[in-house]
Amino acid sequence: MANLDINRVRKSYGRHEVLKEVNISVGDGDFLVLLGPSGCGKSTLLNIIAGLEDITDGEVLIGDRLVNDLPPKDRDIAMVFQSYALYPTMTVRQNIEFGMKIRGVPAEERAKATEAAAEMLQMSTLLDRKPSQLSGGQRQRVAMGRAIVRHPELFLFDEPLSNLDAKLRVDMRTEIKRLHQRLGATIVYVTHDQIEAMTLATKVAVMKDGIVQHFGAPQEVYDRPANTYVARFVGSPAMNIIPGRLLNSDGAPTVAFDTPNGEALISGVTLSPEVARDFAGREVLVGIRPEHFSLDGEGVVPVGVDIVEPTGPDTLVVFSAGGTEVVARLDPVELGIGEQVRFAVKADKVVLFDPKTETRLD
Ligand SMILES: Nc1ncnc2c1ncn2[C@@H]1O[C@H](COP(=O)(O)OP(=O)(O)OP(=O)(O)O)[C@@H](O)[C@H]1O
Ligand SMILES: [Mg+2]
Repeated sequence: MANLDINRVRKSYGRHEVLKEVNISVGDGDFLVLLGPSGCGKSTLLNIIAGLEDITDGEVLIGDRLVNDLPPKDRDIAMVFQSYALYPTMTVRQNIEFGMKIRGVPAEERAKATEAAAEMLQMSTLLDRKPSQLSGGQRQRVAMGRAIVRHPELFLFDEPLSNLDAKLRVDMRTEIKRLHQRLGATIVYVTHDQIEAMTLATKVAVMKDGIVQHFGAPQEVYDRPANTYVARFVGSPAMNIIPGRLLNSDGAPTVAFDTPNGEALISGVTLSPEVARDFAGREVLVGIRPEHFSLDGEGVVPVGVDIVEPTGPDTLVVFSAGGTEVVARLDPVELGIGEQVRFAVKADKVVLFDPKTETRLD
């Protein structure tokens, strides 16, 4: 297993620059998720790590070894694609053994490795079937089995679950997490699904237009997103971003925003004294996660309820503030349309953004 360093990597197709100075470093055993919308450059970056695409500029190190000029077969990696790329005429066993056979691994050893992988992936009973006799999730397991028996330094996954239905996706997600824990492997995993990213990753790189917007631990990315783009991309329902202002106060930083029912005043927001001074009296964007509103404690946000959506475990309440639609996630509660209430806010969880640059204020 190995650490992975991506230093100042750029990639252009002709004049179209699809990766712009990407810097990412993860340690041995990390689970790195590349997260972003379609076309942001995730697969390009994964293919660069695999050696399937060359680099325009920068360097890639796997286990401290510079691999820029190494062909894929010498990089000690195993890749699992979205389309499982199984050989249709071979059985599951033959599919899994094929790579080892090519590398000249003796038959007995091949069989042992295959049985072990099959057991780990709970598909021992499927070894003699052909891919056409398997479900999507089972084919996905075979593709993973083929990767496992290589014992690579690095596993690369490109949207491996996107062909599966919702229920199977969740099951396979757990399977991949278990696999990571058992193997202690270093994994790079591409997805545009932020829940997959949050549940699997030890480190997430949120990408947009070929630029890494935020690289960090999932909880950090969730709690203190680098900018409004990351704030909105990670979490569902998304973080509320409400136009407001930072007040000129001597005490704890206080933000205000207007609602049709009066002014909201949230005091005790986390902000360094320097930034609090710089932005005092200025406009800011107030970022509040839906779950940080509640009906307990001091009600500081006057709310006129527009929409109520019970989801089962909680109730979503939509209201208007700062000229935008805001969503609160409360414990199950009965509220009527048009009802006036006051929500408390976890002030220490509120993040502020500069309205010009949309980056987070610290
Ligand atoms: N061979 C190529 N030639 C020219 N442009 C390319 C090539 N491959 C990819 N691109 C462009 O590079 C950008 C990034 O593509 P990439 O496949 O990395 O995106 P992605 O984030 O994996 O998207 P998706 O989620 O849709 O798979 C896109 O704008 C794409 O059109
Ligand atoms: Mg892709």
